[in-house]
Amino acid sequence: MNYEVVLPAAGSGKRMGAGQNKLFLLLEEKPILIHTLEVFQQDENCTGIWLAVKPEERGYIEQLLNRFGITKVKGLPDGGLERQHSVHACIKNMDQVEIVLVHDAARPFITLPIIQKLALTAQEKGAAIAGVRAKDTMKKVINNVIVETVDRDTLWMIQTPQAFRFSLLAQAEDHAEKEGFLGTDEAMLIERLGHKVHIVESSYDNIKMTTKEDLMLGEAILKKRRETQIG
Ligand code: CTP
Ligand code: MG
Repeated sequence: MNYEVVLPAAGSGKRMGAGQNKLFLLLEEKPILIHTLEVFQQDENCTGIWLAVKPEERGYIEQLLNRFGITKVKGLPDGGLERQHSVHACIKNMDQVEIVLVHDAARPFITLPIIQKLALTAQEKGAAIAGVRAKDTMKKVINNVIVETVDRDTLWMIQTPQAFRFSLLAQAEDHAEKEGFLGTDEAMLIERLGHKVHIVESSYDNIKMTTKEDLMLGEAILKKRRETQIG
């Protein structure tokens, strides 16, 4: 199933505390952003990449694309103040396609089988997002006191990619913008339309590079992959 992908990359990386966009930090000598882009560059089902960027970082990102041979980028619109605005900027610039994926540029370890399952499920059902089952006992807590132990079997930790029929996501984003609603992921905007969102089981390796500890985890994931390839 072919698709185009939107990669929001216009954040500041405050929680990483690196004093620069965390996507430029290196994992095994390659920027995090390039690790993520290479997945989609290599996926023959991916027919176009859209990157939301900060205007002052556009030049540097274009240099990186050249240096690392990333040729599928169709546009680099200005991102916005919030991630949702950055994604919306891309959607507004795109020509209509059948399936669009939204994926955090800060998740470099996504793999092709999960991407393909998401695209196929979105084609069939309209909306499909990546997630993993909660591993720990989960409790709802208010003011440091437990209110409820939530049935863990019903709880999933949500990641990206999130895949949609293009027309459905565009409609959900326009609706959210009109109502001034800000969601933490694209699925929330679709849920608000009353449309079902399906889960595709993903991998615990598909972490988001958020804090310094994640860089160490990231190096470990790359090392594990190298060793399983050799072995
Ligand atoms: N992002 C974006 N536009 C924003 C905010 C975030 O395009 N206004 C992107 C980030 O670049 C990242 C993804 O959305 O690829 C996920 O966001 P997050 O992990 O929160 O990254 P940052 O916002 O950069 O980090 P922080 O919240 O720690 O500042
Ligand atoms: Mg953020």
